[in-house]
Parts: sequence; C-alpha cells; structure tokens
Amino acid sequence: MTEKPTFYITTPIYYPSGRLHIGNSYTTLACDAMARYKRLKGYDVHFLTGTDEHGQKIEKKAAELGMEPQAYVDKMADAIRDLWQLLGISNDQFIRTTDEAHEKAVQGIFQRLLDQGDIYLGEYEGWYSVSDEEYFTETQLSEVFRDESGKVIGGIAPSGHEVELVKEESYFFKLGKYAERLIDYYHSSEDVIIPGFRKNEMINNFIKPGLSDLAVSRTSFSWGVPVKSDPKHVIYVWIDALSNYITALGYPDQENEAFKKYWPADVHMIGKDISRFHMIYWPAILMALDLPLPKHIYAHGWIVMKDGKMSKSKGNVIYPETLIERYGLDAVRYYLLREMSQGNDTVFTPEDFITCINSELANDLGNLLNRTVAMINKYQNGSVKNYFDCVEEDQFEQNLKAFFDKEYSAYLESMEKMAFDQALDHLMAMVSRANKYIDETQPWILAKEADNKKLPVVLFYLAESLRFIGHLLRPFMINTPKEIFRQLGIEDEVSTDLSGLAFGHFPKESQVVSNGVPIFPRLDVEEEQAYILKEMTGKSNQDQSNSSRKLDDPDWDLESLNLDATIEFDDFIKTELKVAQVMDVAPVKGSNKLLRFRLDAGESVDRQILSGIAKYYPDHEALIGRKLIIVSNLKPRKMMGYWSQGMILSAESGKDLHLVFAPDESQNGALIG
Ligand code: ME8
Ligand code: MG
Repeated sequence: MTEKPTFYITTPIYYPSGRLHIGNSYTTLACDAMARYKRLKGYDVHFLTGTDEHGQKIEKKAAELGMEPQAYVDKMADAIRDLWQLLGISNDQFIRTTDEAHEKAVQGIFQRLLDQGDIYLGEYEGWYSVSDEEYFTETQLSEVFRDESGKVIGGIAPSGHEVELVKEESYFFKLGKYAERLIDYYHSSEDVIIPGFRKNEMINNFIKPGLSDLAVSRTSFSWGVPVKSDPKHVIYVWIDALSNYITALGYPDQENEAFKKYWPADVHMIGKDISRFHMIYWPAILMALDLPLPKHIYAHGWIVMKDGKMSKSKGNVIYPETLIERYGLDAVRYYLLREMSQGNDTVFTPEDFITCINSELANDLGNLLNRTVAMINKYQNGSVKNYFDCVEEDQFEQNLKAFFDKEYSAYLESMEKMAFDQALDHLMAMVSRANKYIDETQPWILAKEADNKKLPVVLFYLAESLRFIGHLLRPFMINTPKEIFRQLGIEDEVSTDLSGLAFGHFPKESQVVSNGVPIFPRLDVEEEQAYILKEMTGKSNQDQSNSSRKLDDPDWDLESLNLDATIEFDDFIKTELKVAQVMDVAPVKGSNKLLRFRLDAGESVDRQILSGIAKYYPDHEALIGRKLIIVSNLKPRKMMGYWSQGMILSAESGKDLHLVFAPDESQNGALIG
C-alpha cells in the first residue's frame, strides 16, 4: 500500500478570556473546510486547534471571578470545545498550553535557546497594555498623554486599551540575526505568505526598520511556564503559544511518529492581527531550533460590523450559537465561508446574512432540488435512470457537461488556494446553470407527449448535477450534502471522495423520496433582521420572558443572575459619583473627539474634565447649565495638554451616546449612591 500524502493544518490557539464570536470562529471554520477538502482528496490530514491559556490577562480575569486560573481555563476550554462541536469542526487534536507535555516541551525549547546563546538576560522598558499582552513603542501608540514638560506619561494602544510604563528584567531572543533568512524564506516560493501583500508589509514595516531583540520572559505575573533555570521568570506567552504547533506533535522528541509524519505544517491559518507573530517571530524561532519552516502562512481578514470592530461595549457582537440555533449549522457555515474574501475584511450585516441564505440556499439550491425531485415523482413515479452519454443527448446536455467540467476545475483551483469564497462562486455557478437547464429543456412540455425519449434524460441530468453539487458542498456543509443524497435516493457519501468524482457516475438507477422537503426554508428579511439585531444588542428573548415574570415568582431573579460580571461591594463603594453642573464647555484644539468641561461639583473651585464625546454633541453649548453625573475620585490624568479630573457618565446606545443627566433640582456636589 502506498502511503497517503499528509496535510497538517492549524488554527491559532484561542485565548479563553471570553466567549468566542463569529469572527474568531471564522478561522476555525476556514481550517475545517480545508481539512475536510483535503481528506476528500485522499490526504492523511492532521487538523490542530486549541487554547492559549497562560498570561496576565487570564490571571486577572480569573482573579476577578474569584477563581483559580486553572479552574477558570478548564471551564473556558470546555466551552470552546463545545462550540467547535456545535460548528461541526473536525479537528484531530485539541491542545491546551496548560497540558503538562506542552509545558515541559516549552521549558525545553527555552532552555535550548538559552544554552545556545539565542536567548540572553537583559532589561526591558516599554509601554505595556495588559489587555493586549503586548508592549508598544511610543510611536505605535494611537494617543499619548504628556505632562507639562512634554514628557510622555501614558497613552492608548491601537486596540483602545490604556498602556502603562513597565520596566522589568527580561530574557531576550536575538531576533535581529534572522532578518536575512526571513526575507529568503518569504521568497522561497511564490505563496509561502498568503495573501502576498503581507510579505511586503513584514519586510517594509518590521524587517527593514530593524528587528529589535524580542523580550521573551516576564517577572510581573506568574500564570505561565517558569524558566527552568530562573523560575521567577515565566516564559512569555508568544514563545509558549507559538510552540504549540510543534509540541502538539511530540516535539522535542523528533523521533515521535506524529512529528516525523506531519512537520513542517502545510498551513498555519491565522487572522491578520497576528501576522507579525507568525510570519516573523515563529519562523525565526524555528530557524533557531534548526527545524523546517511551515509551507504556508495564511492570514485572513476580519469580520467587522458596520460600526467597526465587534465589541461587547458597542453591543454589536454576534455569536455563532445565536445564528445556528435559528438558521441551522449549514446556513451559518455557508455564509461565513462564502462572504469572507481572501485576506480582506468583511462587513457582517443581518440583512446580507438573510439575503444570502434566501437567494443562494433557499432559492437557487433549494429550488433546484425541489423541482428535480418533484418532477421525477410526477413524471416517472420517482424513478430515475442513468442516461449518461446516450443518443438522446444534444447541445443542452453537452453545454451543461462542459460547463460543469470547467467550473469544477476552477473550484479545485480555488480550494487549493484556500479561496473558499471563489470556490463557492464556482459551485453556485453550477447551481444556476442547472436551473437554467430546466428552463432550456422545459420538462413539463416534454411530459405532454406520451413516451417522450428526452424527458428521462433531462431528469437524469438534473439528478446528476445535484449529486455532483452535493459532493462539492461537503467541505462546507455537514447535513445538506447527506440530505441531497437522501432525497435523490443514493448513498453517495461513503463511496466517493473528491478525487474519484466525475460527472456521469450516478448509480444505474435510483428511487427519489416521494416528498422532498425544502432544505432551506425562505426567511422573512425584515423579521429576521430585527431578530438578529435584537440578539446583537443583548436584548434576548430570555430578557423579555424575564421581564414578564411576576415579582412573587420564586425563581424570577435567578434567571437574570450573571455571576461572571460581578464585583465586590467593597470595590463598588470606592467609586465616588457626584452631581456636577456644566459652567462652560469648549472643544479641545487639535482633537476631534474631546470636549473640555468646567464643572461645578459643589467644591471650592470648579473642576475640569475632558470627555471624548465631541462628535455626539456638536451643539455642545446647549449643555451649559445642565447637571451631569461624574466619577469624582478618579486619578487625574493629562490629555492633549490639559488635566482631566474625573469622568462624565454617559450611556452608549449602539452608534449613539447620551450623557446621563442628574435631575435639575439636585444639588451640585450631591453624592450618588
Ligand atoms: O490572538 N474576525 O488569540 P485570540 C476574524 N492566542 N477573525 C477574528 C476576529 C474577527 N472579528 N476577531 C478575532 C490570539 N479573530 C492568540 C493566538 S496563536 C499561537 C496565539 C481571530 O483568541 C484573530 O485574528 O485573540 C485570531 O486569528 C483568532 O481569532 C484568535 O484570536
Ligand atoms: Mg487577539
């Protein structure tokens, strides 16, 4: 027996710091489509995913919930596994960075790099964002705060999170020495880096300006893998996380069967935001370890919302569970893989989602199946025979066949490039072409003539087109292909893989189901749009049912209990809220966000607060005299050269923002609580 060719594909390992949304799910779904496709092509596939469980963010999150980090990540990793199961993900392995074997391996990797001089001990100072777990240089910050002398005293990371100045002893990886080899690697084949423009981005933005050595350990927190020879340091999350791709295969045991078989990876699939880590740091680490490099690194774009990035505070997050529950797994898988185009961002709107399902799945595909099964029942008592290459064929069949051949090659080419949206374009073109074939041949006219020789041929060609399409859907959809085969009365799934797929191979004879139910019911666009929007803004059906419950119902309050989002009373009372009246307000020069308020908070002198609400209150002078609520005991900070003493409360409602006003009769300085 000849050995099957192998194919090793990986997702990033996910931070278990919150619920995964459709954006994170896309990466895993894209890998799943590719893994399924390669299996159907006869490859021995190894599909790896997992969780990235160490680091300060996780440590903090667990502490907030009053949990041990390990207990917290155990719970979250289970939830992520459940999600993948729900999404039909066919991963072969799930790695967690808290797995003992992984931790040991990471210690080994670190020690080896230290021993051979690729890692050395030094001191690190930089602007650190806890939320991003990343240091930034001053020029990378999207906003900097300065004191009177102009010295930078704080700032905001590109993600919008605040940074703090952190200085610590740290181990460094000598990244700089791999610059030349990285460039050679990018050029070693045409498509190592996909899409190609990321190659230039890496070279121009990071490599050419000079790669500084990389801090690879931390002393500021302890939830991580300790450096063996110096355990007050934990190994920083990127070495820990990136190594998962090899430790999962048994590395450092290079004689391990899995390692020998699958390394180097065929594809690391990632989102564009982690390109630098995967295209620079990871290959450099592999070079230092003297290991072969991944064959492809593929960075896809983001799923964004009309108002930008998905975020809980904007109320625009959409979770896969919500969509699957209402529209079914295959509709959701199809939509995500269909809409995302290679390397670019894609805007999710409820409207697009519903329209896509209606027009492509309910209409085009659903109707093709329904009409075909109905006609076979009506004209031939449900029986269909294989008439491939028979004498009754004419130009319509020739054209249909030629079209399928051409689109099938294009589909395969797109799949090889992992351009799933294009592959589905070609697939849907076949669906439309088969629908057009019905219009061309008009079976209902043929049926008027008793014993028409052409009718069974046409019905066969339709059934065969559907069988063919069913196979090409298999990387993308889980239940639909089976349902298509079932309605056609064939058992195709087990017997055919894609390398054996050919137009015309329909069984000699089959009996279709007597009553083909629609595979994708048509959806009411407006109603469903409203439904999804409601889910996104967090007003769920459950909330409604809760609000209609009577107060004396013994369990009504349990339903709304969300312990994940709680703080202790002691934390709350540290916050001082006060009524403050606007005495004056003006925009801050050089900023289109900030308004500068002079407020009477019942104190001996007025206080100044800067607030980033300018765009919501173009008519800001109307605010003079109004009473607001402020957080009065926040540490003052400087913005655009002005001290801001506190924060003004406002309510975010989707794209809008409204200040929270205190009653006019309340006294300036009155405490709220
Ligand atoms: O970055 N659209 O984990 P993560 C598309 N632990 N993709 C999105 C997205 C969106 N809106 N939001 C996030 C990490 N992603 C590290 C990886 S790998 C050794 C360590 C993608 O949970 C994001 O681009 O923050 C990334 O590929 C993946 O979700 C995991 O993100
Ligand atoms: Mg991230």
